[in-house]
Amino acid sequence: MTSNTTFTAADCERCRRDFPALARTLGSVPLAFLDGPAGTQVPEAVVEAISAYYRTSNANTHGEFPTSRETDRLLHETREAVAAFLGVPDWRRVSFGQSMTTLSFTLSHALEHVLQPGDEVVITQLDHEANRGPWQGLQERGIVIREAALRPDGRLDGDDLARQITKRTRLVAFGLASNALGTVNDAALARRLSKEVGAWLLLDAVHYAAHFPVDVVALDADFLLCSAYKFYGPHVGLLYTRPGLLESLPVDRLRTQEQESPFRIETGTLNHAALIGVKAAVEYIASWGSGGTLRERIVSAMEGIAAYEHGLGAYYHDNVRRIPGVTVWGPDFSGPRAPTVSITIDGVRPIDAARALGERGIQVWDGNFYALRPIEALGLAEREGVLRAGFMMYNTRQEIDRLLEGIARIAEIAGA
Ligand SMILES: Cc1ncc(COP(=O)(O)O)c(C=O)c1O
Repeated sequence: MTSNTTFTAADCERCRRDFPALARTLGSVPLAFLDGPAGTQVPEAVVEAISAYYRTSNANTHGEFPTSRETDRLLHETREAVAAFLGVPDWRRVSFGQSMTTLSFTLSHALEHVLQPGDEVVITQLDHEANRGPWQGLQERGIVIREAALRPDGRLDGDDLARQITKRTRLVAFGLASNALGTVNDAALARRLSKEVGAWLLLDAVHYAAHFPVDVVALDADFLLCSAYKFYGPHVGLLYTRPGLLESLPVDRLRTQEQESPFRIETGTLNHAALIGVKAAVEYIASWGSGGTLRERIVSAMEGIAAYEHGLGAYYHDNVRRIPGVTVWGPDFSGPRAPTVSITIDGVRPIDAARALGERGIQVWDGNFYALRPIEALGLAEREGVLRAGFMMYNTRQEIDRLLEGIARIAEIAGA
């Protein structure tokens, strides 16, 4: 699905008014929120949806009285909104959880009872620990974990992925985009290879979904996970499962819990207010798009925002790599790429650079961001990781110029 909706610098200026946190200053300078890959700011519409819920409808589910009925309705609407966000044809495929990590652990515990010793699970060297640790834990049950290699250029080695996937592979756990290097991975290849051997494909869409429209049907995923706090919503994990799949898994649950998908994997009382905030976040994104359906508006908005963010990323990438002493890690912006850029500065620990920038009101992350394996594979663990900036719909060129100026100053002092 393509559309002509664009997202311009003027739209960015307009959208900034919707995010109350962007008004914050440090002394006389505005805070520059370039920390989006670790979680974005939220628009007023999300804040309002959450507080309205607590003000008017706060209740547990399935009661025979007004506030409970409202809660049921709002949660159902959230499921439908998330289904539209992920391109899922049926809301019954969308489950909620505390976080992506928690949902992954729940799935891996269920797989302990399904997989047999000698079965294989393939993970990658590029993934966040949340898409590695839960599967590596299966080793204790005799499951063999294989790891597809990362190339020095920050891309996964497709040939190695093909080598690691064998007739014994039951699950391929694959990230759509890297939160450390911004790499967008070849999900079609992972799908083709996993399908050839009859393995499930589980996609970590946490970083990807913040920047690109997700289409579960086109991806042909068996499982897909993401987190709403990365796309302007609250801290809630989201799970898609292929029809029939969740019902076949022995997930931890009380006997009072509903057996069917999507409820089967949801334990206890969910964070209702946060979930209602997720619906508001999806609707907020859609408000920047065009089309007759929510799905069309989401896709067109995300495409416009993706192009805008790509421009910011390319601008930063192009300029930061020219600063003497700076090395940029990960792919360039000539192809699909998340607007998340990691660098190292000769002679400067990332933590010191982040602190110096923080003192100027420029918020960026240092370290490994739980993407420890790619940092190790690139030999960057000894250097205490990288300095990461990520660009969202509300970021501007002026903020990037401030960041570039700050980095140039830090590199200059280090080189002097
Ligand atoms: C790519 C990626 N996967 C998984 C996660 C974990 O998500 P959550 O915090 O919802 O557990 C993150 C969080 O940073 C991430 O960036």
